[in-house]
This record gives sequence, C-alpha cells and structure tokens, in this order.
Amino acid sequence: MNAVKEYSAATYGDRIAGVYDEFYRPANVTKRVDVLAEFAAGGRALELGIGTGTYALPLAARGVAVHGIEASKAMVDRLRAKEGGAALPVTMGDFADVAVEGAFSLVYVINNTFLMLTSQEEQVRCFKNVASHLQESGVFLVHAFVPDVSRYDDNQHLRASLPDLDSVRLDVSVHDAVNQVVDFRHLHLTEDGIRMYPGRLRYVWPAELDLMARLAGLRLRERWGDWQRAPFTSQSGSHVSIYELASSGDKCSERPSQLASSPIVFGNTESYNDLVKSFRFSSASP
Ligand SMILES: C[S@@+](CC[C@H](N)C(=O)[O-])C[C@H]1O[C@@H](n2cnc3c(N)ncnc32)[C@H](O)[C@@H]1O
Repeated sequence: MNAVKEYSAATYGDRIAGVYDEFYRPANVTKRVDVLAEFAAGGRALELGIGTGTYALPLAARGVAVHGIEASKAMVDRLRAKEGGAALPVTMGDFADVAVEGAFSLVYVINNTFLMLTSQEEQVRCFKNVASHLQESGVFLVHAFVPDVSRYDDNQHLRASLPDLDSVRLDVSVHDAVNQVVDFRHLHLTEDGIRMYPGRLRYVWPAELDLMARLAGLRLRERWGDWQRAPFTSQSGSHVSIYELASSGDKCSERPSQLASSPIVFGNTESYNDLVKSFRFSSASP
C-alpha cells in the first residue's frame, strides 16, 4: 500500500477544515449531547479530537466544563469563530498523549476519531493516558464503527455520489488488512477543478478495544449499538462503548503505575454505512 506522503495527526483536519461543517451536518447532536452531559455528571469533560466543536460547544453551553485536544489549528480556528468558541479551552497536540492537567469525569472520542490514531501502539498509549486522567467514577466513551472488511474488493473501495448537477464526489479507499489501516481520499470534482481531502485510520474491532482498555486498567461498563442505547448485537454497524476504571480487586487488569500509587483516580440504529459518512462526503448525519 502506498502511504500518504508526510501524513501527520493534523493532516486530515488541516485539509478538510474549510468544508467540514458543510459536509457533515449531524442530525442528532442534541441526543448525543444529552448522553455526554449525563456522563459528565456535573464534572469536567474532555473531548479528544474536538474538531470544529460540533459537540463540545453545545455541551459547554449546558454548563459542562469542556476541554478539548486537537492537532489541527485550522479546525480550532473554525471552532473559535463559533458562538462560545473563543472561551473554550483547547490544548493543541496529539490526543494519544492526553497532555492536559487534572482529572475528568468524562473523556470522550466520537465519530471514529479514535481510529485516527493510525497504529496499535498509539491507540494503546491513548487508553493508558486517558485512564490516568479519569476521576474515580469517571468514564471513557468511545464511539466508532464496527469494521466490515467485506466492503473492500481487492483491498479497494470506491463510492460515488452526485450532490448536484455540477459536482461529483468520490470516496476512494485502499485497505491494508495486516495493519488494519485504511488510507482514503475524498475527491470533490467541480467545473473549477478537483479538491482532494486525504485521511488515514486504523480500524479496531470492539474486542481489541476491550483489550486495550484492560491494558490500561479499564473495563467495559456498557456498550450500545447507537446513541439511543440500542442493544449491541452482531448486526450493529457501530458502537458506543463506555469504559470505567477497573475495580482494585480485578486481578486481570493491569492498572498503570501512575494510578496504582494514587487514591484512584479514576435513534435509530446507526448502520456501518451511516457512521463511515464521518469520513466521506455527505450532507447527512455522521
Ligand atoms: C472526524 S473529526 C471529528 C471532530 C469532532 N470530534 C466531531 O465529532 O465533530 C476528527 C478530528 O480529530 C482530529 N485529530 C485526528 N487525529 C488527531 C490526533 N492524533 N491528535 C489530535 N487531534 C486529532 C482531526 O484534526 C479532526 O479535527
């Protein structure tokens, strides 16, 4: 597989920031923010890959103290331009490091953003760093698609759409099954030319996430098939997974040393296709 040249944590956001809110118009923000506010439970919340603030700003507007981490300055510039965006604290950097101060009652990473950590090592590191920033009763919420490798033919996937008379949108993906990595390009073709938006993700099955959690001293508390808390089944195309700090009596868990020495710190069913819209052109909800 050809790697994206000079791809970094900021590449996706820097390239798509100007059109992100136009392409992704989520319809169920309120429901998701309801869930996030419930888990924040009056405490501090941290969004990994906060982007343009689609969820963080309405959450903050409800009185939740929201902090964000983001690699792309271009995305944060968009957030800052929105109502309430100027005051929202955002740490610029790689969210695998979770380089922020203090503990949170909720850390969340949604719309497949966790998968934008493109190696297993980074993903494991992220889990461990999140665990060290959770309050005792805090949770880590991960929302992502359930992988479906059947969509690849010869490790390639192409999807076209015609949003209007004068443009074509193409989503092109190349799949590396060994590393569970997908490189993708959104192409927007108009009479003015071609705009290209690159991205890369490493997909993970829920079971692998649960192992990462265990390595970090976390355990699965709940998993739903969607934000309406539908049961998670073999038919679920996506999941919302809630992790909590494992009890000290759980001999299977390895709590990070940082934690061991502290008093703990601790709608409708969304289909796979609905959720992968987060990574391709669509005017529908991701
Ligand atoms: C799909 S967007 C989601 C934005 C927002 N969470 C939402 O749901 O609207 C992913 C965001 O994560 C950011 N991102 C990707 N990898 C990152 C990393 N390693 N560290 C920090 N931010 C990252 C991107 O720049 C982008 O803003």
